Order: sequence, then C-alpha cells, then structure tokens
Amino acid sequence: MLVDTHCHLDFEDFADDRKDILARAKLAGVRQFVTIGIDLPSSRRAIALAEDNEDIYASVGIHPHNARVLSSEDVQDLLNLGSKSQVVAYGEIGLDFFRNYQAPSVQVTCMKAQLDLARQLGLPVVIHDREAHQKVFQILQENKIWEIGGAMHCFSGDWSFAKKCLDLGLYLSIAGPVTFAKAKILQEVAQNCPLDRLLLESDAPFLAPVPKRGKRNQPAFLVYTAEKIASLRKLSLEDVASQTSSNAQRLFRLPPPAEPTSHSEDLTTEVTKHTKENI
Ligand code: NI
Repeated sequence: MLVDTHCHLDFEDFADDRKDILARAKLAGVRQFVTIGIDLPSSRRAIALAEDNEDIYASVGIHPHNARVLSSEDVQDLLNLGSKSQVVAYGEIGLDFFRNYQAPSVQVTCMKAQLDLARQLGLPVVIHDREAHQKVFQILQENKIWEIGGAMHCFSGDWSFAKKCLDLGLYLSIAGPVTFAKAKILQEVAQNCPLDRLLLESDAPFLAPVPKRGKRNQPAFLVYTAEKIASLRKLSLEDVASQTSSNAQRLFRLPPPAEPTSHSEDLTTEVTKHTKENI
C-alpha cells in the first residue's frame, strides 16, 4: 500500500470525478491520503472531505501564495480548524520566492505565525519551499522545528540542503518530478535519503510523473513515483511502499487504513472498466 501525503483533493480539478479518482487510487494501492489546505476555505473543504471519507485526512493552513498578516479572527479560525479530529498536519506553509505572489516580508511573517499555531496545536507541519531554501531553513531552525516535526513537501533542493533538513529532524517528501529525465539532483536526493525519512506525494492535480507528465495529476499516479524511487535505490516496489507508508503513518499519526468493503469491490469492477478506457 501507498500513502499520498500531499494532494489537493478539494480543488475544482476534481469536481466532476472525485469519487472515481479516489476509487482509481485505491485500485492502484494508494490507501490513505492527506489533502492539503491552501487557505481558510480550502482547509474547510479538506476537513469536509476527511469527514466524508475514512481514509482521507486533512491538513490546514495558509499557503505562501495566499500569505497575509493574520488577524486575530484568522488565528482563532485556524486554531478551531486545526483542532478537528480529522486534521493530522498544519500546512502547507512556507515561502515561495519563485512566484512571489505576496511580498517576501509578508510570507515570512505568515510562516512564523503559523509555526506558532502548529506548535500550539501539536501538529507536524507541511513546508512549501520554492527558491527560498536559505530563509526557510533559518526560520525552521530558529523555531526548533525538531520539536514540532514536519515534511519538506515536494523537496526541490540538492543533497547538501537535504542533509541540513534531515539534521533538523524533517522528512523529505518526493513528488513526480523525480521521474523526469533531467532531474538528476532530485534523483540523487531520493537515492541517498535514509529510507525511514522518505515520504511520497502526488501533489495532485499538479506535477504528474512520467509517463503522465503534463496531464492532470491524480493520486493513482503515485505508483510511478514509487517505482522510480525503487529503481533508483535498487529496491522492490513493495519495500519502498511499505517503508514510506509507515513513515507517513508515524509522522502524521495515521491509524491503519480501512479494510476494503464489498461495496468498494463493486466500485472496483466498474472503475477497472472505466480505467481501461480512460487512463
Ligand atoms: Ni501542494
């Protein structure tokens, strides 16, 4: 089994076929999902999905693209959302100096405020870091992130930055780009990261792995990422799957996945039919 530790199941992209997407994922062996909020409305939708589906868990927070100086009402809302039982993580939070949709200083303020919230809530954090390695590292170190725990989502640094993150006690979460032919730096990270600190994520609907590159991503495609890592590390797919799944369960304190029901078998037959036509 696989755990998709980072997907955006609440997005519009899945509005028409969300049930189907989940069934296909389960068919592919993806049994648990952490769906990630990017602002208050999306965090609420993530929780609603987690309430309706027993293998979906939610993460709440404000993405750097939506960063703002938090009002006291925002803080109260985030604390309320973060204390729901379906919420297993805080994020995604961090810095994006590539897009810079919000001023860097606002991103920094918003990230620091949310690290405080995560600490208050006792939740591990999901970190977004794009072209901001040095500043992200500095903030995480100053905030003693090893006491909170967390994952570097869609890790994009080189092995020397990876080692610094590992030293802070963080997990490295690897997404679809590891399958791209030119991604030698990321492949080196995926190869060298201690197996007990590695996570897999789809980041669906973004970043579909080869051979689905350029298409709308979905959690079922996580298998291609897992296969690539298995081949890089000369391990079996089963070993990569079981090790990364237990890492996800440890970090996010997930219970074992629900057993498939007879109803889901019916669904499976239908989806297999459907999948052959569509994927
Ligand atoms: Ni994301």
